[in-house]
Amino acid sequence: MRVPLIAGNWKMNTTVSEAVKLVNEMRSRLDEITNVDKVICPPFISLAPVRELIKGSSIKLGAQNLYFEEKGAYTGEVSPLMLADLCEFVIIGHSERRQYFNETGEIVNKKVRAALGAGLKPILCIGERLEENEAGRTEEVVTEQLWSSLTGIDYPRGLLIAYEPVWAIGTGKAATGKQANETISLIRRNVAKLYGKEIAQDMRILYGGSVTAENAAEFINQPEIDGALVGGASLKADQFLSIVTQTSEIKR
Ligand code: PGA
Repeated sequence: MRVPLIAGNWKMNTTVSEAVKLVNEMRSRLDEITNVDKVICPPFISLAPVRELIKGSSIKLGAQNLYFEEKGAYTGEVSPLMLADLCEFVIIGHSERRQYFNETGEIVNKKVRAALGAGLKPILCIGERLEENEAGRTEEVVTEQLWSSLTGIDYPRGLLIAYEPVWAIGTGKAATGKQANETISLIRRNVAKLYGKEIAQDMRILYGGSVTAENAAEFINQPEIDGALVGGASLKADQFLSIVTQTSEIKR
């Protein structure tokens, strides 16, 4: 059985004091829910203070990005080793990074390798754009992104995948549960081709894109969907708690 996982991607939101306040609002109630992995991904500068706040709780911590070199003269970047010292997870290849920071499949691949090498658990994001979806190219695009991200990786220990159709991110226009389940099932079949059935069956694959407390159950109820990567709704304690609580009840 795959343990469901709900991750909150705070993106470039919250000052350190706002991050502390948000964690304080959710901490004890999140901690009580034990059959779901709860991961919060604040901005880099809030990782250390948030880590202190969640110490001793069942809440896990993730970063939103990393650079693929271990250390050196890369002004402004954060390395896998620095993150491995602070957190367990790292989001890689988010569509906003691909779109605004020109992250190519090759860069995403280097980042996934670097994260795995440092013992981090990457949450690899893949998903098609609107025009690709409308042209019926979802399967092709998602498969290509998956394969290029995992080139040269023999064994993806700890890897998670988030299927995030780009047209659903931050738009309020989520996919349907059925659509997401179908694409995630396709992703799992491709993972099986790469790594065998057992690894594919064990790998957690999330849906992301306009998940809210109102529509979360539609996704979580799907057999192939193991949780969600939540953006906007993860910045509201009540919404995020409700998504985690519903997941706990559905996957019990
Ligand atoms: P959203 O973002 O929930 O605000 O659509 C999801 C994401 O970007 O991971």
